[in-house]
Amino acid sequence: MTIEELCKTAMDMREMAYAPYSHFRVGAAVECGDGTVFTGCNIENAAYGPTNCAERTAIFKAVSEGRRSFRRIAVASDTESFTAPCGVCRQVMAEFSPDMDVIMVNCKGETKTVNLRSLFPFGFDSSSLL
Ligand code: THU
Repeated sequence: MTIEELCKTAMDMREMAYAPYSHFRVGAAVECGDGTVFTGCNIENAAYGPTNCAERTAIFKAVSEGRRSFRRIAVASDTESFTAPCGVCRQVMAEFSPDMDVIMVNCKGETKTVNLRSLFPFGFDSSSLL
């Protein structure tokens, strides 16, 4: 999939967002090491805490289907500014692919790409454990 196709897929996934509380729709498309693509959207909850971001939805779908390596993820929102992944999603990305690219897509389809190493320096990982 080209970067344009990946971004379009993420933008299309905003339609699937379940965001009745924030009304902030997010779509994601993660490209795995083998080239396959998994999609996700944010899924909110009346209790707020159980809310799952679009990025984690896509990554957890991929992991549950046997993928553990990711090249890049496109994240699309409805704003003109670029929506950066939250800290929890950065931690989840770093668990599997600390060197992956994060492509943020705004409502106009413009993109900004940042490597996870610069988005999430000095993270907690398995080498931090006893
Ligand atoms: N959200 C995402 O899905 N991804 C992000 O990168 C930022 C935030 C969602 C969570 C919640 O449903 C809504 O956006 C507002 O925070």
